[in-house]
Order: sequence, then C-alpha cells, then structure tokens
Amino acid sequence: MSASDVVGCPQARPGVLAIEAYVPGRSAAATTAKIHKLSSNESPLGPSPRAKEAFRRIAEELGHYPDGSAGELREAIGARYGLNPARLICGNGSDDLISLIAHAYLGPGDEAIYTTHGFLIYRIATLAAGGTPVVAQEKDYTADVDAILAAVTPRTKVVFLANPNNPTGTYLPFSEVKRLVGALPHHVILVLDAAYAEYVTRNDYSPGLELALTHPNVIMTRTFSKIYGLAGLRLGWCYAPAEVCDVLNRVRGPFNVNSAALAAGIAAIADVDHIDRAIAHNDAWLKWLSEQIAELGIAVTPSVGNFLLLHFKDAAEARAADEFLARRGLILRAVASYGLPQCLRLSVGSEEANRLVVAALAEFKKDGARA
Ligand SMILES: Cc1ncc(COP(=O)(O)O)c(C=O)c1O
Repeated sequence: MSASDVVGCPQARPGVLAIEAYVPGRSAAATTAKIHKLSSNESPLGPSPRAKEAFRRIAEELGHYPDGSAGELREAIGARYGLNPARLICGNGSDDLISLIAHAYLGPGDEAIYTTHGFLIYRIATLAAGGTPVVAQEKDYTADVDAILAAVTPRTKVVFLANPNNPTGTYLPFSEVKRLVGALPHHVILVLDAAYAEYVTRNDYSPGLELALTHPNVIMTRTFSKIYGLAGLRLGWCYAPAEVCDVLNRVRGPFNVNSAALAAGIAAIADVDHIDRAIAHNDAWLKWLSEQIAELGIAVTPSVGNFLLLHFKDAAEARAADEFLARRGLILRAVASYGLPQCLRLSVGSEEANRLVVAALAEFKKDGARA
C-alpha cells in the first residue's frame, strides 16, 4: 500500500504527483580541481559592482518589509525600456511570474502548450496549477508556429514560448512570433519568455515587447538572473496588458520581491556599461566555443543565447563526457530531463573556463572516457 492509499492521508491536487521536481544544474563535483560552474547559464561577469554595493547597503534595513509594489524598480525598468511602470509586475525570479500566470489562468481541464524541448518550468507550473500540458513538436530543435497552432483547442488557455529557448539556444524570428500572435484565439495568453533577449544579436529577433504593448493577450517575461548576473537574488519582471496586471497583482504574494533584490536590481539596470561588457564577452566566446567544439566533431546547435547544446553520439557518450569534464572541475548541464539524453548544455563561461572546456573535450574525443 502506498502512502497515498492510507485513509486520511493528505492528498495533493490532481496533477501535482505527475510533476518531476526540477533539478537545477549541479554546482559541485567530486574533484580537487577548481570548479567552473557552466550548468545554469549564469553570467561569468557576475553582477555590476553597483548592484553589489546596493546589496551591501540594504543590510542596514533588513528589519523592514520591502516595498510590496516594487515601485522604484518598476520606475527604473520603465525608464530603461520606455515602458509604463503600471504595466510591469516584478517577481521572485521569472519562474515566480510563470507560476503566477499558470495559477491565475489555468485550472482543471485547461491546456497550456509549450514545445518539445521547452523550458521545464512550463510543464511544472501547468501541472501545479491543475492544468494539462500539451507539447507541440519542434523542427530542428526550434519552435514551430504551425505545430503550436495545430495544438490549440477550445481548452487552450496559455502558450509558453521561450525565445530564445533553453536548452536549445534556438529562436524564432519576430515575423514568426507575429504570425503566431495573429493566429491565436484572443482568449489564449501567449507568454513570451525572453530570459536571454539581451544576448541575441540577430536583426530579425525581437523579445516581443511591442506585442505585449499592443495585444490584450501577450505577456513578455524577463529576468535579472542571466545577463544582469543576479541569479542568487531571484528577480524577474513581466510586461503585460492592464487586465492581466490586475489579475497578477491579486494573486502574487504581497512582498514577492525582497528588499535586497529590489535594491540590487535598481542599481544593476542603471549600469549599462556592465551589460555591454557582458554582451561583448558572450558574442566573442559563443562564436569561439561553437567553432572549436564543432571542429572536435561534436555537433552544436546554433545558439543565440549564452549557452550551447552539444550533441554526442548517444546518451552513454554524453554521460561519459559529463563525468570526464566534471573530474576536471568543469560542470555542464545534463539535459535528459528535457528529452535530450545524448546532449549536454554548456554555458559560456570565463575565458579560463571556455579554454579549459575545449581542451578537455579535445582530450575526451582523443582518449574517450579512459582518462
Ligand atoms: C527560458 C528561461 N526562462 C526563465 C528562466 C528562469 O529565470 P529566473 O531565474 O528569473 O527564474 C530561465 C532560467 O534558466 C530560463 O532558461
């Protein structure tokens, strides 16, 4: 008899036990080598020095509740991107916002669509809200607008689209996103998750802000965890139609963003030079890593983010490579949970880390897992 068969045992809502708990990228390995964590798409430059200073200063005020409206931060984001702060909602990471959207708009019988290798949190948030996840097939590891539209039913309430997507690094050109919005029924919310937007340098890309500005059913989510280097503080934001903001403000925790995150976020967004440096670093090393790794005979999905999806011969080779690299202190992300057991995801790291990864992969390909 399982625990849930016992009479009187508390029962989670239907769907909750179908969730496989999210396993974050590893941060440790059994090795004495220096650790380079390349498993969570964090910024190798870390946060702006101004954000660190703001974090230190806020230590004096930890006895007070944070500003529950995140007013100053919303003003700062609004000023930076030319947005109406009233239509911004901040969250404890963009994960928080994705969950809030799911909880507010999905319930039993409702469907949420995401793509084959879409970010795992979409499935988790959908099931946690009692909704039904629906997977739309990708083409070449890329979201396919026709497949998404074909998956829409009268029960569809939300479409989650990471653009660029994690863990594939692929993206949809803006023309395709506009085609999707144009064809979606108006009662379906499109969540454009632009967590990696700042890294994309393609002319045909847009995070989709103008769609969130002009459509009653489009939300764009962003994060401070990636290019802003503030993953540890948990801070994200979304721009949404006024009616959606009203809904999300009703369901979010009254103090869902802590005061350290507010202070650091305000300082970080003002430090444009720091972000420019992070973009330049990524541009150079994403290209270098892609070329060097492909030359070793490891297929690399073309990426516009701050990470690469590496394809090995099979799952066994990917596991062997993962262990081989971990023994050298190089921690990548196994992505079997994304249906990609033959792949590893590599975040763009510091120059030192990037060079070590390429050297270690070259050694691995030469000697196999023997070393
Ligand atoms: C596509 C995508 N969306 C959202 C997030 C979550 O970011 P946050 O740290 O803001 O919760 C991630 C983090 O890996 C991501 O890859």
